[in-house]
Amino acid sequence: MFFTKVVSDSKKSEVNMKFFSVLIVAVFLVALPCHGSEYQVFPLQMKTGSNEQYSTQVSCTSWRLGVEANNLIKWKTVPAACQEYVADYLLGDQYRSDSKTVCREAYFYAKRLNITAKDVFVFDIDDTTLSNLQYFANHGFGVEAHNATAFKIWVSFGEAFALPETLVLYNKLVSLGIKVVFITERPVDLKDVTISNLKEVGFHTWEKLIARDPAIYSGKLSNAFKTSERKKLVAEGYRIVGNIGDQWSDIVGEKKGFRTFKLPNPLYYD
Ligand SMILES: *[C@@H]1O[C@H](CO)[C@@H](O)[C@H](O)[C@H]1NC(C)=O
Ligand SMILES: *[C@@H]1O[C@H](CO)[C@@H](O)[C@H](O)[C@H]1NC(C)=O
Repeated sequence: MFFTKVVSDSKKSEVNMKFFSVLIVAVFLVALPCHGSEYQVFPLQMKTGSNEQYSTQVSCTSWRLGVEANNLIKWKTVPAACQEYVADYLLGDQYRSDSKTVCREAYFYAKRLNITAKDVFVFDIDDTTLSNLQYFANHGFGVEAHNATAFKIWVSFGEAFALPETLVLYNKLVSLGIKVVFITERPVDLKDVTISNLKEVGFHTWEKLIARDPAIYSGKLSNAFKTSERKKLVAEGYRIVGNIGDQWSDIVGEKKGFRTFKLPNPLYYD
């Protein structure tokens, strides 16, 4: 080896001495993990307190992380103990900040693309583009069992507000020349009110708005409907460069898009 060739025998012992002093210091540091640090680190901090229970704040944060990571699936309602936590999350700064992180990342990604006339970005509508927070605030923040009739009545009012971070992303994508396609679980008979609601709150242009046609998709899961509609888009020659939704069913499956973006939603699981 080059090293042994150039180092003479006399220098070798010098090198060995240096090596050993480094080794001794290293052993010393390993033996004293707190040396030079105020913190003693364990892989997972042990639970403390007499009852060995996590606080509601801590366990509901874990629940929400489990939901967002798609580890907790097919849940029907928000745990009753987490109602206040979910309300605080949605009405406070964290929901907005989490949404902003997702939307900014989607924009940074899109900005680097070489856009063609056939490039589309798929947007879900409910709790991705339009917020149903007003409805859920009046219905127990996800703790009450879902009532499809009451929800449809709310949607038919056309009074949902825009999710502000999504609106920012939408405007930036439109200025980049990327076409927007909305694919929504809302039934076709609510398409007109959805269009007026979208326009009212700042979404003025899109390539397509695809609502669920019960004649074709009766009894089909949301993901089957959305996947089928995305495949149609690709068959028509579109390139789905991105896809954003608040439900995992929006962003998994065939032709899901080159990149997908999951917005937070601790209110319901589709
Ligand atoms: C965009 O096009 C330029 C010029 O043709 C190329 O250098 C670049 O790699 C392309 N970027 C992407 C993300 O495809
Ligand atoms: C669902 O909502 C409708 C309309 O508000 C109401 O008439 C009905 O009683 C509700 N169903 C349940 C199970 O709460």
